[in-house]
Amino acid sequence: MKLFSTGEDKHLALKVAENLGVKISPMEIFVFPDGEKRIKLNESVVGQDTFLLKSTGIPTDSNLMELFFTIDALKRSGAKSITAVVPYLAYSRQDHVFREGEDVSLSVIIKTLETLGMSRIIALDFHSIKIPEFFSIPVIHLSALSLFAEKIKQMKEGNVVLVSPDMGGVRRIKQLSVLLENVPFVTIVKDRDLKTGRIEVSNLSGDVRGKTAIIVDDIISTGLTISKASTLLLEEGAEKVYMFATHPVFAEKAGEVLQKSEAERVFVTDTINVPNNKQFAKLEILSVAKLIAEEIKENS
Ligand code: R5P
Repeated sequence: MKLFSTGEDKHLALKVAENLGVKISPMEIFVFPDGEKRIKLNESVVGQDTFLLKSTGIPTDSNLMELFFTIDALKRSGAKSITAVVPYLAYSRQDHVFREGEDVSLSVIIKTLETLGMSRIIALDFHSIKIPEFFSIPVIHLSALSLFAEKIKQMKEGNVVLVSPDMGGVRRIKQLSVLLENVPFVTIVKDRDLKTGRIEVSNLSGDVRGKTAIIVDDIISTGLTISKASTLLLEEGAEKVYMFATHPVFAEKAGEVLQKSEAERVFVTDTINVPNNKQFAKLEILSVAKLIAEEIKENS
């Protein structure tokens, strides 16, 4: 088998490679003055099972192009199979038409990946449980929830309540609750203005008074959803709040928003690299490298 990865994703790829006891195969990306890119593999892949680790955080479209071009290079160079390891798959939130006249961005991404010849995808915590059904190739859908459960157990907080910051995340907290011997959970009602993107959090589905509230989400983009959620939880009587999310997209001033939020700590994973200038004191990054390496081992 051969493992490829580039740029920002090397941080995770190196840990995955270490777990697997392999080296990352060399490749080059040449960026033209206008921003266009050209990929070159610097090792033969003829007849090989190949794994390409490429996440699609900011700059999203540029990372997607790198993913597409590298799959094309692997295909043209005679790889036997191409497994795209995409820890964070962008555009997962636009997985259906919300308002008449909209596109379905995720469908475009999936069609492109499949047309290029990707044999299989390994991804983590898709935005919705339905997304694997949109692919016609095999999907290995991993989750960071087991890492979150481990961390929550280590924190030894008594009187915990899990919180989904929106109705869409209920399945996620139910799963985490099972991993934590059925700790109680509540959901927040979140409304997003589909035109402006503005969000409002309002009601809670249960009692959080005197409890340690643990918010769990798939993505942190601007940080507004979970920081507004933590304010609501404290107003409703929670004693303290922690935040957990798989994908640290960290758009705009997310770092500042989260540091200023009322949460004690913010736990994310390394599905997307968080550069130093986006890190902040309350942040702790858990690694998904072992989860990914184990899956690659089983499938190579
Ligand atoms: C939305 O449904 C997602 O699950 C996240 O809650 C959302 O993407 C977070 O975005 P932001 O951090 O910008 O509020």
